[in-house]
Amino acid sequence: MTSYHLRGASPAKTRADAVVVGVVKTPKGVVVADGGEDVAAAFGRSLRPLLSTLGFSGKPGDVARIPTGGKLASPLLVLVGMGPATDDRAATLLAVRRAAGVAARSTANAASVALALPAGDAALIRNVTEGYLLGGYTFGRYLSTTPDAQAGTVTVLCPIARRQEAVAAFEEAQVVASAVAVTRDWVNTPAADLTPSLLAGEIVKAAKGTKVKVTVHDEAELAELGCGGLLGVGGGSSAPPRLVELSYSPGKPVAHIALVGKGITFDSGGLTIKPGNGMETMKCDMAGAAAVTQATLAIAALGLPVKVSAFACLAENMVSGSAMRPGDVLTIYGGRTVEVLNTDAEGRLVLADGLQRAVEQEPDVIIDVATLTGHMVMALGTKVGAAFGDDAVVASLIEAGQESGEKHWPMPIPADIVERVHGSKIADLAQHDWTRWGGGLLAAGFLREFTDGVPWAHLDIAGPGFNSGSAAGHLTGGGTGFGLTTLVDYARGLASPATTDGPVTASGSDASSAA
Ligand code: BES
Ligand code: ZN
Ligand code: MN
Repeated sequence: MTSYHLRGASPAKTRADAVVVGVVKTPKGVVVADGGEDVAAAFGRSLRPLLSTLGFSGKPGDVARIPTGGKLASPLLVLVGMGPATDDRAATLLAVRRAAGVAARSTANAASVALALPAGDAALIRNVTEGYLLGGYTFGRYLSTTPDAQAGTVTVLCPIARRQEAVAAFEEAQVVASAVAVTRDWVNTPAADLTPSLLAGEIVKAAKGTKVKVTVHDEAELAELGCGGLLGVGGGSSAPPRLVELSYSPGKPVAHIALVGKGITFDSGGLTIKPGNGMETMKCDMAGAAAVTQATLAIAALGLPVKVSAFACLAENMVSGSAMRPGDVLTIYGGRTVEVLNTDAEGRLVLADGLQRAVEQEPDVIIDVATLTGHMVMALGTKVGAAFGDDAVVASLIEAGQESGEKHWPMPIPADIVERVHGSKIADLAQHDWTRWGGGLLAAGFLREFTDGVPWAHLDIAGPGFNSGSAAGHLTGGGTGFGLTTLVDYARGLASPATTDGPVTASGSDASSAA
């Protein structure tokens, strides 16, 4: 149990087991970042030689722990590197988010921590708070000894702590960070313990007591509806598929967005089976569904005036006598037929059902999120997602991602894709062809067929959805929750197109809450 506070106090005078400040690199050497001025002043001229003796260069990820010997009210000063000083807004937000994440792991044994990182406006406060909470994320479900948790008391120091917008940003950050944490939990849970029906149950549980309504369609209902994509992909597993539909419907919404998530709880490839090492992380193949579900719950918890219809397309892609075969024809919800040519290109099949269900709700925009193709991992690596679809929607999502350091790169759907998608000799559409190049583009072109002209974007998060390496910054090993904050910030952007300064409140300088 950790309690979080936002205060306007000086970091030099704040009593905590550890006080954290950032350090940036400048041409003249390392300098304490915004928020740490009082600490720098308390140490005076002794700080720079001390840092150079320690060999502290201010690189992201660098940490130095310095006993304060009475120079500060706290006994321990923790310096975290933030990289080069910059005027670039997005770079600064990301540096702060990462530094806060590093700070969380560097102070896990302290009972109380004060963070004196740059927090001069609402977006910075959000990044300090979310970065700290996410960097301190742990997944202890299968460990016999619980990992170090976060400090019991965390105080974010901030020069505008009295302002309404600061308090709101601080509280909203906690809501978003816990949504990301649950997304990570779901992604990290082994497939045996998170089948489609179990994940559906988790979603129902998560939505209890919220303003989000949930409907779960089981395999019998999917058959009645005609969701042939989900039934085809899920047919090889003894754990049958589910379609989970969520709806958040605030009064007087300014927009209606539909979110569709790929929820393959395990992707063996099916009969077009993956090699062993390609399967190793395939419990992560439901990361899109987890992100859209938790984004919907977060948008509702924040009370944003945006209607959300979300679709989590859950199935397990397995091998058995009842598995779909290459050459089979599936009928997607709404009636279009698809020839399956590679059972490992299963994501587009379950998403087709979800997209067609979404179209029926007549939303203003549809956004799907999916760990869809290894091709996009090859193209963009593991830190950047691919964004396809209508230029305007893609541009807004790229911009929304900047607030929290999620990078999406625009990718094309070339004209010849249309022919390839229509290339089946026996069905309306071909799910795949054996052209090796640009497979992520073909996948996107296939999905577009099911959007019926509704403004749409597709986020392929196969790379950034899962971190096979170790913790760095606000990202921990395993599930990352990538995409969630982009969606929440996109909805925020729809709710308040122009950013305005919130009014100053007279209600004191202390906003506290427990989590
Ligand atoms: N789930 C995979 C994509 C993936 C790869 C996600 C790596 C995360 C990390 C997807 O279902 C898949 O198997 N895609 C195939 C597509 C191909 C058959 C057209 C791939 O990437 O090879
Ligand atoms: Zn997959
Ligand atoms: Mn696959």
